[in-house]
Amino acid sequence: MDFEQLYGEAEGRAAAAESSRALYEVKTDYLGRTGKVTALLKGMRDLLAEERPAFGKRINDLRARLEAMFASFEETARERELAKKLQSEAIDVTMPARRHAKGALHPITRTRQELIDIFAGMGFEVFEGPEIETDYYNFTALNTPADHPARDMQDTFYITDEFLLRTQTSAGQIRLMEQKKPPIKMLSPGRVFRSDDDATHSPMFHQMEGLVVDKGITLCDLKGMLDEFARTMFAETAKTRLRPSYFPFTEPSVEVDVSCSACGGKGCSLCKGTGWIEVLGAGMVNRRVLENCGVDPDEYTGFAFGMGIERIAMLKYGIGHIRLFTENDVRFLRQFKD
Ligand code: DAH
Repeated sequence: MDFEQLYGEAEGRAAAAESSRALYEVKTDYLGRTGKVTALLKGMRDLLAEERPAFGKRINDLRARLEAMFASFEETARERELAKKLQSEAIDVTMPARRHAKGALHPITRTRQELIDIFAGMGFEVFEGPEIETDYYNFTALNTPADHPARDMQDTFYITDEFLLRTQTSAGQIRLMEQKKPPIKMLSPGRVFRSDDDATHSPMFHQMEGLVVDKGITLCDLKGMLDEFARTMFAETAKTRLRPSYFPFTEPSVEVDVSCSACGGKGCSLCKGTGWIEVLGAGMVNRRVLENCGVDPDEYTGFAFGMGIERIAMLKYGIGHIRLFTENDVRFLRQFKD
């Protein structure tokens, strides 16, 4: 057998092989266990002893050349196949992406979040009470015993004589003070319920309650903190003013107005010509309330405040009707995208 001829034939077949797989088959045909080169080796048996070393060397040379030749074709085939694969999997990164419809936070969620951010910056921590409350937490412990006339200020949904849908997040004040001793700086957002329904009232709405209890807390602390809140929430130039009011759980109690951000205090239709807008109720925590929670009112004082989140959102975004918050009209909601 002419080795050169065999090598030439192998090289021709290798060059014609179209894939790594086909190339492997050709290679096996020559270098495999039952291949042509192995067959040549077996043929050595028929040679004279002195002829064998030279013949063996020639076969080894042939094998080495074949191996090198196949390796080089394998390399080319691998490169060719990789290039083909990359091409078939190519992604055009310049192609415009499919648009994803992006939602927006509900204005109530957004306002609630803004309020939490403002007060968290002043060191308040968030505490959430239950929506189904007992008469005790919602009223009695807040210095509003049965038959107290102030119960008429809120039309309550009773579930049983004992259980009700909370009418105010103030119930959270009691729950927190029962769990935690002063110093306290609490913010309590949540849903509240009252049998009430018109352009600015809805049977379900949201409140944000605040409570601070420590040694030496005064009304000045409340005023300073509310000023900071008004400046951050409404306008850098916003001012607050306190008007005397009444709540059973605070003494003294105040109604807090913020200067109208629409007219800057000159008087317009939003503030009904007064230059001021009522935004929340507040006051110094009534001694009775502290006592009910086991806090000594001679050692500690505190202030509390409560605001309607819908009301704040309506003022901030100029929303005219409270029903818009619950109708889920996307044309309304879409306006609150960042
Ligand atoms: N709970 C009152 C309401 O729903 C609002 C309020 C007033 C909360 C004065 C307070 C407060 O914490 O001190 O009308």
